[in-house]
Amino acid sequence: MAKGPPDTLASLGESYPGPLIRLRRGQRIRARLENRLPEDTTVHWHGLHVPPNVDGQPRLPIKPGESATVAFDVDDRAGLYWYHPHPHGPNGGRVGFQSYAGLAGPLIIEDETERALDLPVGEQEMVLVLQDRSFAGDNELTFVGGMGSMMRGFLGNRVLVNGRPPETREIGPQPYRLRILNGSNARIYKLAWSDGRPVTVIGTGGGLLAAPQRYPYVTLAPAQRVDLWVDLSEARVGDQLALVSDQYRSGMMGGMGGMGGSGLPAGARFELLPLRVTHRAHGGQPLPEVLDSGLKTPPVTPDTPIRTFDLTMKMMRGFAINGRQFEGTTVADEEVVALGDTEIWEFVNASMMPHPMHVHGLQFAVIERKRIDRQRGWSGLEAGLVDAGQHDTVLVLPGERVRIALTFTDFDGLYLYHCHNMEHEDNGMMRYYRVRA
Ligand code: C2O
Ligand code: CU
Ligand code: CU
Repeated sequence: MAKGPPDTLASLGESYPGPLIRLRRGQRIRARLENRLPEDTTVHWHGLHVPPNVDGQPRLPIKPGESATVAFDVDDRAGLYWYHPHPHGPNGGRVGFQSYAGLAGPLIIEDETERALDLPVGEQEMVLVLQDRSFAGDNELTFVGGMGSMMRGFLGNRVLVNGRPPETREIGPQPYRLRILNGSNARIYKLAWSDGRPVTVIGTGGGLLAAPQRYPYVTLAPAQRVDLWVDLSEARVGDQLALVSDQYRSGMMGGMGGMGGSGLPAGARFELLPLRVTHRAHGGQPLPEVLDSGLKTPPVTPDTPIRTFDLTMKMMRGFAINGRQFEGTTVADEEVVALGDTEIWEFVNASMMPHPMHVHGLQFAVIERKRIDRQRGWSGLEAGLVDAGQHDTVLVLPGERVRIALTFTDFDGLYLYHCHNMEHEDNGMMRYYRVRA
């Protein structure tokens, strides 16, 4: 950041992942990006409604040794967003590798609506970045590509929270706000409480829900965020509770753990955040019944056009959208939308893998989810899909058809839409779309 209040940047741990950036809605920010890597990179502001030329797209790489300054107005609702690299050269994308190597981090936007709610702050507000990583014997990070990882995505053999192995946090008997980013390349988390209590959701990737909702567990796909509330004010000193990722079935090949040799197959159960009540505290504010009464959804009518995107597998070449893979800035006729229009996009997943589908430049509403085909061995994630609220990334499970409603406002030009399994994206499951003025 060029300048700003001292709390704009906060470190989450050592230097991995990237620092937490805190912004206020209405602020104008300027960031200077210096590329000291031996390869092209970009900085993409995931989830933010910004003009195409500051969106950090692969068509605008920062070359090694070069720098770029971007400026934009912070226009989005309060919420947890994030930033990560987005380069894609002739030999494929480097989003997976560069994010894995540490170039991604969380970004929080604050606004007045949220501040008025008086949600937990300070040590009662935890920002958690979940990433699975693989370590060699010498504790060096390793990243394995290859066919298995192209199909399934990279799965690490341990899970890190803010760059560290999960460790017990000492807490007081109070309400806590857990703001969680799935910054993993490909892993889907099934967030649950170790004692089976329901998970209270107050927000998604695009900010607060209209009102809190309870789920038995929360399914969090790569690039998605969720805002949780947990009230521990009844707890006693000595009580323990853990946020875990619970078991689920992940495909017909027994989790396909064999293909990449991951020690932690998709769907394995593990702890993410062990908590222990160690001290007394007071000041337990109640959970607000209404979070944002003004939350809007795109104006859908019976005449709203529907655009269909078939998610399919390409023999030995990964996955495709309507039969196409990434072709740089080439946009097909059916990938052009009009500025100001509201549309329904439907993603139909006829493949054997889940696809977290992401659209750049806006937040959308998930308006329908339907099973229309075989699940191909994926089960145990459905009841945790949080479709309420605003999203920039929606998980489409095998056999599902998911409809989203989106409005293309303010900016015309090129944006991306793609699967956010980073290996799928890097291997071509990504396209540009054009907003025509
Ligand atoms: Cu996280 Cu193309 O974005
Ligand atoms: Cu994005
Ligand atoms: Cu995918």
